[in-house]
Amino acid sequence: MKRIVLILLVAGFISACTGKPSHEAEMDKFIDNLMSQMTLEEKIGQLNLLSMWFDVTGPRMSEDVEQKVKDGLVGGVFNFWTPNAVRKLQDMILAQTRLKIPLLVGYDVIHGHRTIYPIPLGLAATWDTQLIERIATAVADEASADGLQWTFSPMVDIARDPRWGRVSEGAGEDPYLGAEIAKAMVRGYEQGDLSNQNTIMSCIKHFALYGAAEGGRDYNTVDMSRLRMYNEYLPPYEAAVKAGASSIMTSFNEIDGVPATGNRWLLTDLLRQQWGFGGFVVSDWTSLYEMEDHGVGDRAKVTEMAINAGLDMDMVSEYMIEELPALVKAGRVKTETVNAACRRILEAKYRLGLFTDPYRGASEERAKAKIMSPEKLALSKEAALKSIVLLKNEHQTLPLDPSKKIAFIGPLVKNQRTLVGNWCAASDWEQVENLWEALENKYGSGKFLYAAGCNLVENESIRRMTDPQGNVIDSRPSQQLLAEAVQTAQQADVVVAVLGEAYDMSGEAASRTSIDLLDNQKALLKALKETGKPVVLVLMNGRPLTLQWEHDNLDAILETWLAGTRAGDAITEILFGDANPSGKITMTFPRNVGQIPIYYNHKNTGRPFNNDSKFTVKYIDIKENTPLYPFGYGLSYTKFEYSDVQLSDSTLVGDGKITASVTLTNSGDRAGEETVQLYIRDMVGSITRPVKELKGFQKVALKPGESRQVAFSITTELLKFYNAGLQWTAEPGEFTVFIGGCSDVNNNAKFTLK
Ligand code: NOJ
Repeated sequence: MKRIVLILLVAGFISACTGKPSHEAEMDKFIDNLMSQMTLEEKIGQLNLLSMWFDVTGPRMSEDVEQKVKDGLVGGVFNFWTPNAVRKLQDMILAQTRLKIPLLVGYDVIHGHRTIYPIPLGLAATWDTQLIERIATAVADEASADGLQWTFSPMVDIARDPRWGRVSEGAGEDPYLGAEIAKAMVRGYEQGDLSNQNTIMSCIKHFALYGAAEGGRDYNTVDMSRLRMYNEYLPPYEAAVKAGASSIMTSFNEIDGVPATGNRWLLTDLLRQQWGFGGFVVSDWTSLYEMEDHGVGDRAKVTEMAINAGLDMDMVSEYMIEELPALVKAGRVKTETVNAACRRILEAKYRLGLFTDPYRGASEERAKAKIMSPEKLALSKEAALKSIVLLKNEHQTLPLDPSKKIAFIGPLVKNQRTLVGNWCAASDWEQVENLWEALENKYGSGKFLYAAGCNLVENESIRRMTDPQGNVIDSRPSQQLLAEAVQTAQQADVVVAVLGEAYDMSGEAASRTSIDLLDNQKALLKALKETGKPVVLVLMNGRPLTLQWEHDNLDAILETWLAGTRAGDAITEILFGDANPSGKITMTFPRNVGQIPIYYNHKNTGRPFNNDSKFTVKYIDIKENTPLYPFGYGLSYTKFEYSDVQLSDSTLVGDGKITASVTLTNSGDRAGEETVQLYIRDMVGSITRPVKELKGFQKVALKPGESRQVAFSITTELLKFYNAGLQWTAEPGEFTVFIGGCSDVNNNAKFTLK
């Protein structure tokens, strides 16, 4: 008791002297004491992050990890989990290292750890930030029980080029929605208190602008004006920093000719000085080593650049441990710089409670209770249901009538692996129920017809990558597969074709020059169409696709993404109308790959698009220059009607506010949920402004015949942007407010900012 009182008194004294909260002051004291015992090599060891097992995503591998851990040359490991394995490793630290500093243990828990949720692009399509926060909390609960403390998520890179495979890992093209989702994920993972053992540390990535790689080619050069950066690409990173994310990962690309990993403007001026980031910065896999190939120096030079720029932790390159000691001796890197980086890593460990409990409460019992618990499986299904987007539905083809004869055709009907998508972490995909099993569970076996129709991938170059051993190829001639499918379709009243991308056709290193359905799948669809039967296309894929032919020729199209552990069930419920689709896409679907980049919040030009004029911003070789499906688009089995936009006032003054509202009515005959979207256009500015910007959204559930008023507050803050001097400002003048169910909305009213 006396000891506790003494500790409290000392803590109070320190905090009174430093002006810091007492727990921070205690942390500083603890770390000062620890660092005073550390050699330079041990401090540098804390900056080294190594990979333990698999999931190789770069050119260099970690070797002799155990020995390096014992030698005090490692600060953290990743690609590693389970309570026993983590306990063993931390025990080794306690027993065999001089200072017994526990390791950080991380992993790419991107959309679930064992229980898998829809890919992030699918989760974004829910537009449900509360749901996304609940998911991040559940993911943290499961991953932490399995020995993890740190996830490399959220990926908040704005992406406008669906050729880039990593669009599947982010929230899409919009900075406002991206920022809201980024905040929700950070809150969910960390809950503002990493000492709670059910949380995990988040890592914002990839800092910065990774999604703007030229030509959609992964890892490629980025070149962008400051105005575009500040107004369109940086908001989600900044929002995640301000939401309290404890770590951030540098990106592979360069910015202004300097690779992000060694870019001092990015990592220090912007991140730490302007945004006040207090966590630590980790490189991406070997992005430090890769700076040599970028051509900015040899291994010593790039290490010097990176640490002096503000990089704290080196993922897999091992250049920090190999080069830093000599750089410090030569005076090229200051000891204080190493100290500052080491301190940030130790602070993260302290906040995670690792110095009190290096296992963070991980145990087999806890893991058993938390992993794939019924609540998590239910949450995964809820997310899958809400992520699914109805892209087309003619003649009420959907929902399906189970009393009809229905043929399910396509290589994805019985495929499990695809459902959990890329980055499926530690999930056991072999236990996932595929669509066919879900259908049979609900309706009994023998009820539906089935044919594979074609192989998922026949394109040689994709197959060499996705299935090098030819394990999943059906060796029957493609003509035979096709004939069987046509015969099956002919016996049915309705055909449901289940097609899309293999799980690894999106994600890292999966850029495509064409985002059409693969030729063999398209040939199948054409043959099915020729049977004259109504055809529903169910898509499973990780990016927007070009679907002009499908849109023109098929009766219904359902985008189900890669929807996770409970995808089979969720798709079944949507197909048969037990649930009503409510997802809305968060990336534009182009008609044609040549339209890329295509995004709703573009600028006007001096020759704005006009279909009837030649000298206007358009392509001459396509009939319609608009997107096939715009940002924010998604249908429902019911119908929503919007009243005109009402404004509470036609002028907004200073720090006042006005209200913009509509009455939303469900005029169909089913209950449904609509995402009401608010867009604003700044009509005249000191710099050109986008034709529309998302500024708010609300999810509204209505019963048939029900109406509700939906209102948004508009304040001056909402109208601010970065001007040519990069000042965050709102300019007086006219604004147009749009409210509707999609970014192509025209329902508007105008007001003036005074
Ligand atoms: C490379 C990827 O770019 C990054 O997103 C991931 O977190 C790391 N590898 C670690 O696996």
